[in-house]
Amino acid sequence: MRFGIAGSIHVKQILATPQGLCPFKIDTEIISRDYQVHQEIKSVSESPENLVKISDLHFAYGERKVLNGINLKIQKGKVVAILGVSGSGKTTLLRLMGGQVKPQHGSVMVADRVVHELDDDGLYLLRRDMGMMFQMGGLYSDLSVFDNVAFPMRELTNLPEELIRDLVLMKLHAVGLRGASTMMTGELSGGMARRVALARAIALDPMLIMYDEPFAGLDPISLNVIANLIRRLNDALGVTSIVVTYDMSESLKVVDYAYFVHDGVVVAEGPAAEMFSSDNPFVHQFVHAQPDGPVAFHYPSNPYPVELGMS
Ligand SMILES: Nc1ncnc2c1ncn2[C@@H]1O[C@H](COP(=O)(O)OP(=O)(O)OP(=O)(O)O)[C@@H](O)[C@H]1O
Ligand SMILES: [Mg+2]
Repeated sequence: MRFGIAGSIHVKQILATPQGLCPFKIDTEIISRDYQVHQEIKSVSESPENLVKISDLHFAYGERKVLNGINLKIQKGKVVAILGVSGSGKTTLLRLMGGQVKPQHGSVMVADRVVHELDDDGLYLLRRDMGMMFQMGGLYSDLSVFDNVAFPMRELTNLPEELIRDLVLMKLHAVGLRGASTMMTGELSGGMARRVALARAIALDPMLIMYDEPFAGLDPISLNVIANLIRRLNDALGVTSIVVTYDMSESLKVVDYAYFVHDGVVVAEGPAAEMFSSDNPFVHQFVHAQPDGPVAFHYPSNPYPVELGMS
C-alpha cells in the first residue's frame, strides 16, 4: 500500500486519534521515504521568510504581452491579495506559479524552487503542496460533493477509502458542509459550491493555497462567509494564501497585504489596511470604483474615426 506525500502526513494525524492505531497495513518504508521528501520541501519552505518570490517576470501568449516585469513576494503565513481589473493577467500569474506555463523572462520561486526549471517529477511534488481554487469553482458536475473533495486524494495518493472518507468529512466540516456531502454539485447554491471548492483546495493539506476570484458572483453574505473562511483556514492550517480578485470591499478586510497589477506590472502595494486611505491614483480609482483614472474604460484599439473609415 503506497501512501502519498500528503497522505503520509494525514496518516500520522489519523494515527494519533483517540480511537487508537490505524487498522490498515502500512508500508512504513515507503511512508518514511515519502515523509522525508515532504519534510524536505517543508523545511525548505520553512527556512525563507518568503514562500513565493517573483522577479522581473515577463510573459506573453504569442504576440500578446501580458506580464511586463512583475516583482512580488509572498511572505509565509500571510494572506495576500493580487488585485487588478479583468484581463490584467491575474489568472496568468497563478498559472505561472503552478508551472502550467513558462515565463519568457524572469522567475517564479516557490519554496526556494524555480518553478519553470523543475522537471516533471519536481513539478508534480511541488503541485501536491499547492491547493488551487479555480475561477468559478471548477467542480465536477457529475460528481457528488463528497467525491469532488475526495478526487485529489484518490488521484494523488493511495490512501485507503476508509481514511479518505474521514478526511473528506473533516474538510467538509471545516467549511460547514459536512451535511451536504451526498448532494450533487448542481443542487448547490453559488456560495455552497465555492465552499466545496475550498474544501477540495485544502484536501491534501497544501502549504500554499491559491484562490482565483473566490468571490465572483456571490451575494454579500456568502462573500463575507468565503472571505472569512479563507482567513480562518489560513491561520488554522498554518498555510500561506494568495487571493486573486477584483473585489475590494471584503478582500481587503481579511488579507494582510495587497498588490495591484496593471499593464503587466505591479503599480502599487502595501498593507491592506493602508489601501483605503492610499493616494496612489490607481489604488484610489480601484478602491472607490471610479470610472475615470489610470485604468481606461476602453481596451486598446485604433482611433474610433479610423476604425469607422471616417478619416
Ligand atoms: N490561453 C490564452 N491564449 C491567449 N491569450 C490569453 C490566454 N489566456 C488569457 N489570455 C489573455 O491574457 C490576458 C490576461 O488574461 P488573464 O485571464 O490572466 O486575466 P485576468 O486578470 O485573470 O482576468 P479576469 O479578471 O477577467 O479573470 C487577457 O488579455 C487574455 O485575453
Ligand atoms: Mg482571471
